[in-house]
Amino acid sequence: MIASHRITLLGAGFIGAFYTHTLHKYRSRERVQTVYSRSTERAAGLAAEWGIAKHTTDMKAAIEDPETDTVIIGLPNHLHLQAATMAAAAGKAVLCTKPLGRNAEEAQRMLEAVEKAGVFHAYLEDLVYTPKTLKSLDAVHKGALGKVLWVRSRETHPGPHSAWFWDREMAGGGALIDMGCHCTEIIRSFIGKEVKPVEVICWADTLMHQIDAEDHAIALVRFANHSIGQIEVSWAFRGGMDLRDEVAGSEGTIWLDHFLRTGFQYYTNVGAGGYVAEKAESDKGWLFPVGDEANELGYTHMFIDAFDAMDQGKKPVEDFYDGYVVNAIIDACYRSAKSRIWEPVQLSDWRGNSDTTPSALPRSADAAADELVKQEVMPDGRLKKIFRNRKSGQIREQID
Ligand SMILES: NC(=O)c1ccc[n+]([C@@H]2O[C@H](COP(=O)([O-])OP(=O)(O)OC[C@H]3O[C@@H](n4cnc5c(N)ncnc54)[C@H](O)[C@@H]3O)[C@@H](O)[C@H]2O)c1
Repeated sequence: MIASHRITLLGAGFIGAFYTHTLHKYRSRERVQTVYSRSTERAAGLAAEWGIAKHTTDMKAAIEDPETDTVIIGLPNHLHLQAATMAAAAGKAVLCTKPLGRNAEEAQRMLEAVEKAGVFHAYLEDLVYTPKTLKSLDAVHKGALGKVLWVRSRETHPGPHSAWFWDREMAGGGALIDMGCHCTEIIRSFIGKEVKPVEVICWADTLMHQIDAEDHAIALVRFANHSIGQIEVSWAFRGGMDLRDEVAGSEGTIWLDHFLRTGFQYYTNVGAGGYVAEKAESDKGWLFPVGDEANELGYTHMFIDAFDAMDQGKKPVEDFYDGYVVNAIIDACYRSAKSRIWEPVQLSDWRGNSDTTPSALPRSADAAADELVKQEVMPDGRLKKIFRNRKSGQIREQID
């Protein structure tokens, strides 16, 4: 028999609503049975909108509801550890939104809690499940881009929608932890999650908002195979939400644009009636919506993967271990932003490849031979070739 799951949803805010929409709107077998929120009003509102049987302001009672087998955590970051520990103790499968913890120490405690309890766990990192990303990852895994050399991932918008995000203590940081966690996992997915992240250098600053946390950050993450990841985040970008990724390989390139330039744009003089797309700043003038937001942000495929893996007794693409590695990379970014030097990624629990030798591009077996560095057809039609002599290192060009 095909299983279906009954869910306790913790949090009836922005992400709780998106998750419920994704699970309930289409013909998914999974149902939210109980929703917890701080305020009865929000919980009752979500319950009424999506036909959720029960709502409560008691988190423990929600987790321990005997009618549910799965807990989805959609709470502010400072509550993830507590909620995951309680859900694991209740013997339930635990699916947690990003970032897993406010830091690697919290994430590791969450990982230990689910592994000790022997319960299923998934890290809800939607942006590695967008349909475009899934197709791109498939191409990369088939070798269409050769060796992945450089992955750039950018998420910028005008700033988050709830007070707790802006509180460094509750969130664990600012734009870097909030959005850099997405970029980090996108980068790891393309470079290979088995490849160890070694060190990072990061700049972070507060350029616009009156807050203690950073509202901008740029970081480079160097991996053991010498590939590089580039994280770019801002809470001060004007004009909506800019989600872009670039993958540069030895044999190919992929550019991904997930949000503002998806090929769908319309103009309205009178207004679109309110909500247009996440973080859109106006509902008038030229608008850049997306067709099916939940799907294009990856939520649909993310839940399909998590529940399929749960039913088949497999590991999902993203689990708490991935969330822990992401937190460890972000921790190193914060240390580097402070020290202004490259900082090692501290992973006391590393489960990937231990090999640190760079995977070199194929080179000529003949040590004395010239190797082709580059060739290009010039505007006058000549073919220009650049060679390097392997023995002397001398560079020369030849025109054919
Ligand atoms: N793309 C994504 O995966 C994505 C997008 C947005 C948010 N998130 C994550 O989801 C989590 C929740 O974010 P959100 O945007 O839904 O937040 P939100 O402020 O919209 O909702 C927070 C929910 O938590 C409840 N809550 C319980 N205790 C609280 C407390 N002490 N302070 C504030 N709220 C409390 C609120 O009642 C509300 O139901 C965060 O971890 C965030 O990083 C993920």
